[in-house]
Amino acid sequence: MWVYEETLPNGEKLTDVINQTNENVKYLPGIKLGKNVVADPDLENAVRDANMLVFVTPHQFMEGICKRIAGKIRADAEAISLVKGMEVKMEGPCMISTLISEELGINCSVLMGANIANEIAVEKFSEATVGYRQNREAAERWVQLFYTHYFIVTAVQDVEGVELCGTLKNVVAIAAGFVDGLEMGNNTKAAIMRLGLREMKAFSKLLFPSVKDSTFFESCGVADLITTCLGGRNRKVAEAYAKNGGKRSFDELEAEMLQGQKLQGVSTAREVYEVLSHRGWLELFPLFSTVHEISSGLLPPSAIVEYSEKLPRSF
Ligand code: 13P
Repeated sequence: MWVYEETLPNGEKLTDVINQTNENVKYLPGIKLGKNVVADPDLENAVRDANMLVFVTPHQFMEGICKRIAGKIRADAEAISLVKGMEVKMEGPCMISTLISEELGINCSVLMGANIANEIAVEKFSEATVGYRQNREAAERWVQLFYTHYFIVTAVQDVEGVELCGTLKNVVAIAAGFVDGLEMGNNTKAAIMRLGLREMKAFSKLLFPSVKDSTFFESCGVADLITTCLGGRNRKVAEAYAKNGGKRSFDELEAEMLQGQKLQGVSTAREVYEVLSHRGWLELFPLFSTVHEISSGLLPPSAIVEYSEKLPRSF
């Protein structure tokens, strides 16, 4: 396991502590990782002989990581991305699985789902979805690798659909957090989740017409949307943002509330906004657009409900 090296307040290196205690004391305290998990601060060394590569980092860092390991991995390696986000390039949006495939020249599946990490770590029952492009055998190997009695994994042939569900629900979770911060109640929050799910589906299908409706009913779709809008970090920080009337920035709140962990929803909202404005789709996606306009300070948090009140009911 490659670990971005950090020095802890007591002067010890994070990887040394993980290897001595089998515990990631900074990011997953109180959970034993198992003695077979070895933390390695050297990225190239960690990936050198691997034939199955699992990518789980904040999406902001993925391009740099791929560039560092390109040409330094086994040619027969298979990849899977658990990363929820996208890169927006000059030529258009690029999903993280595509970035990995293109930069490293290997096949890449994705795993997404209603998977709040702390709950999986204590072995509470949950489900997840593997999305694959063509290689069914590779997808089955990933299912076998991740599957346990408390972690039920299903494979679907819709890599873009699965990945976009995981990515876009973070934007809806920001909206749900605003609603919580404004104390609007459960009906409003459910309405925001419904409208958000519709935008997730419409956006995914406009970008990739091959995306299947059924994917939105898998764990990666509606289930991940629900858990993230109820218990995720995006929701939590967005709630604090709205409670403060937008006067404290997301960066400041993230640093204070997440102790080094990174939010995905705010940067994804910006990336989605870039795609929408570039393609002239802003008016088709009022929820996604409003989330970015609020989180970047252009609109006050209360705009999330003002926008919903104005929506045509047939939307
Ligand atoms: P947060 O990043 O908002 O905690 O969402 C967690 C998640 O993706 C659950 O599947």
